[in-house]
Amino acid sequence: MASHELGGLNEDIRAWAADSGRDRAALLPLLQKLQGKYHQIPPHAMQLIAEQLDIHPVEVYGVVSFYSFLDHAPKGRYVIRLCRTISCDMAGKDRLARQLENDLGVKFGQTTPDGKFTLEWANCLGMCDQGPAMLVNDKVYSSVTPEKVHEIIEEYRKKFGVYAVESMEGH
Ligand code: FES
Repeated sequence: MASHELGGLNEDIRAWAADSGRDRAALLPLLQKLQGKYHQIPPHAMQLIAEQLDIHPVEVYGVVSFYSFLDHAPKGRYVIRLCRTISCDMAGKDRLARQLENDLGVKFGQTTPDGKFTLEWANCLGMCDQGPAMLVNDKVYSSVTPEKVHEIIEEYRKKFGVYAVESMEGH
């Protein structure tokens, strides 16, 4: 769906949040409504939902990562989201972006062929004073350096390996 077809999305989110009394319990139902109507949950929508429900943006990203029926596009087991908003931009997010693309061998918006990692941009994660910030599923990493990115990815590669062995043994 092209961005011009998302007109009305912001208004819908505001209206739905107001209807729900801005209760954080409305998070999942609100995401489902959004998915149902627009067939996707763009990053700016997650940001707006966080504002409207007065919760941390990380919580919204976490829920969207957890429920695979949200956000439609097939995702890797680990969704890495790098904040591209101004504080993290100024703190050097471009260097991290290059490191992530090099380490994973994919561009932003893509998933590695083995299905392990999806790389995406995020808007402000509410960690601006500790930028650059990124998320791996719902885990936040702050003050990230390119060296740290490399280590984090290696950690997840190992975890995934163990998981794969465990699940094969279980069958
Ligand atoms: S600008 Fe990156 S966390 Fe706020």
